[in-house]
Amino acid sequence: MPNRCLVRGSINIDEFFHVHDIVRPGETISSSGLEKRAGGKGANQAVAVARAGAAVDLVAAVGNDGLWVRELLMRSQVNVDSVAVVDDSTGRAIIQLSQEGENSIILFKGANYSAVHKENPPTMHPEVTHILLQNEIPFADTLAQLESSSHPSLPRPIATIFNPSPMPTAEELRILPWKNLTWLVVNEGEAEDLSAALTFDSSIVRPPPNDAPYASMSAYPVVMRLAQCIPTTNIVCTLGGAGVLAHVPALEGAPVYLPAAVLEAVRDTTGAGDCFTGYMVDGLMKLGEAALTRESLTAILKRSVQAAGMCVERRGAMESIPAGHEVDARLA
Ligand code: ADP
Ligand code: NA
Repeated sequence: MPNRCLVRGSINIDEFFHVHDIVRPGETISSSGLEKRAGGKGANQAVAVARAGAAVDLVAAVGNDGLWVRELLMRSQVNVDSVAVVDDSTGRAIIQLSQEGENSIILFKGANYSAVHKENPPTMHPEVTHILLQNEIPFADTLAQLESSSHPSLPRPIATIFNPSPMPTAEELRILPWKNLTWLVVNEGEAEDLSAALTFDSSIVRPPPNDAPYASMSAYPVVMRLAQCIPTTNIVCTLGGAGVLAHVPALEGAPVYLPAAVLEAVRDTTGAGDCFTGYMVDGLMKLGEAALTRESLTAILKRSVQAAGMCVERRGAMESIPAGHEVDARLA
């Protein structure tokens, strides 16, 4: 049976205004350029899964002003049959980029928060094996989708992957059914926020092996403390230019660490986390029902950090996600 990923998440139109300085209260300024690009974490991660080489359905919504984004996603091999077109504006990010390289962003949730699906969660393709979630849609929708993974009528369990960005509230985190979550993907800041929200005592962390490359990294105790709070969930913590640290309880022993890819240049890190996550999910999908080992996890993370690195070498977010064959050529 083939593997299939369902992404339930956001679609945004990112509008970049190039300005000399970010506008101040009461001021009117002109922009020297305007670029419109497709974005949203749901859309970005769905494209990354597709470019990595796997079948992916995106469950999302746009307004009539976002039909071109739906087209673009379709051309990127994402199945958009469940991207509803609603009577609202497509989600927007209005981004001012100053000459100094600063930015300031206004988000409008728009269609991402429209109630569009009669059933919650909407009917899934029967071949879905993996569900990938972020947090740019109503939390209730994310919850319903997470709970759908363990429905008794399913022929086999569905693996779930959650990249909680933006971070849910403390209350939302407490009601999250962590037992339904197979993989948590966070960056170091998110790992810190999560462990602060979920840790009630100052639990003791086993010291890392002395010669481990991550022994002195601040992320190590954060991830290990988080692991004590959510003991049945695998944790993957991305560390920007320092790579990735993964804690998988079933693989007894030390975490798996991979350094970042060696890059030609660091140009634009936007979308790198989404690219990493999509590639990681593709790797888990290709593994199928084979048991995860340290070796197979290392191989999955290696391809994911290479893909994310190539995304950093190129400007833009969605459009800078490399194709699987380009990643494999760099790894060869
Ligand atoms: P996010 O963008 O979600 O904050 P990170 O900054 O941790 O996530 O980046 C995700 C992944 O992208 C990293 O694990 C790494 O593989 C890659 N990456 C990010 N920044 C760099 C960099 N400067 N050099 C090489 N790889 C990078
Ligand atoms: Na990029």
